[in-house]
Amino acid sequence: MTKKIIRNIKKIYSPLDDFGIIEEYGRCTIFIDDDKIEKIINGDVEINALFLEDYEIIEGKNLVALPGFVDSHTHPVFANTREDEFEMRNQGMTYLEIAEKGGGIKNSVLKLRSMNEDHLYQLSRKRVSKFLEYGTTTIEGKSGYGLTVDDEIKMLRVIKKLNENLELDIVPTFLGAHDFPTEYSDNHRGYIELMLNEMLPKIKEENLAEFVDIFIEKNYYTLEEAEEYLSKAKKMGFELHVHSDQLTNNNGSVLAGKLGSKSAAHLDFISDEGIKSMIENNTIFNLLPGATFFIKVKNYAPARKIIEMGGKVAISSNFNPGSCYSISMPLMMSIAAIEMGMKSDELFWAATMGGASALNRENIIGKIKEGYQADIILTDINTLKDLPYMMGINPVKHVIKKGKLIF
Ligand code: NIG
Repeated sequence: MTKKIIRNIKKIYSPLDDFGIIEEYGRCTIFIDDDKIEKIINGDVEINALFLEDYEIIEGKNLVALPGFVDSHTHPVFANTREDEFEMRNQGMTYLEIAEKGGGIKNSVLKLRSMNEDHLYQLSRKRVSKFLEYGTTTIEGKSGYGLTVDDEIKMLRVIKKLNENLELDIVPTFLGAHDFPTEYSDNHRGYIELMLNEMLPKIKEENLAEFVDIFIEKNYYTLEEAEEYLSKAKKMGFELHVHSDQLTNNNGSVLAGKLGSKSAAHLDFISDEGIKSMIENNTIFNLLPGATFFIKVKNYAPARKIIEMGGKVAISSNFNPGSCYSISMPLMMSIAAIEMGMKSDELFWAATMGGASALNRENIIGKIKEGYQADIILTDINTLKDLPYMMGINPVKHVIKKGKLIF
């Protein structure tokens, strides 16, 4: 049956287009046609025999309906976990010190290269299927632990297969510029040319990524390298994301604005110039409070300043083996509330419309609205304030993805 109703809903919260503005409906019923929201009506409907012939009933159990969370920055495909590094950091080493000793991204690259595609798929599938349980119905997924033509393609094929076989949607991003592979440590130019001349054309041809991303940071990619690389990727038809100002102020955010990147992520050390450039160009501020917390950076992104200056914020889990091993968007909201002073309406907007906007899907997902994809979660919160308040507690009771009740 393609037509469904969700009845007995206590309340709906859904974001509007303006940052932080949320619409609230009282008791209501949601009509779904196939994978889309057909209409929302006030109050409960009378269920009679005629109704049951046409509609499958999903019982709302007096829960609160929200759009599924959109997690717009994740690295979900990797071979090994890195709990040893987590412990080393907790004993005093920094993320950069561990990376300089061969840990960090290079550690993940080494392990991923020696794992075949099927094994990588099976491992990733187990991890990625958990997102739905926490109410996340769409994620972005990056490559970036292969750093050879074959291994980057292997990661993107795994992402494609996950997207085809799992219920949640995964938007693919090519992050070959995550680090320089060891074999190119003395020839950065050579690796950039390899990405531009071999990887990007192949990825375009096989339609394996929508976005191209780069890690601008001390010991990784310079601003100049990023400008050349991203400009060329854009000309080839890719949308852009940028990792910037994570560990140092490097003005990647200024470049993100200048190039019309859809988002720049991290931003713990962003300058006022970076904030202005992103606002002027409608680039989403993708804040990753879980990473700041997990790798013990003292600086959180200046969310209040960004919001007061007029920036649109997304928050994401940044799920990855090194800098944040968490898939919980509600937990990210708790950290952002406590450490960045974000308010619950802002957090909810950031976790739904913010993510949808970063992924260029603000007209399809991120809202409970007529015509939008029926990605709906039923939660046992009373108000939006409960999302950050109930720290580490999963409020999600049922998940409906593209009109289908998943659990
Ligand atoms: O977004 N900053 C760069 N990339 C990841 C970390 C990847 C890793 O440590 O494996 C991030 O934090």
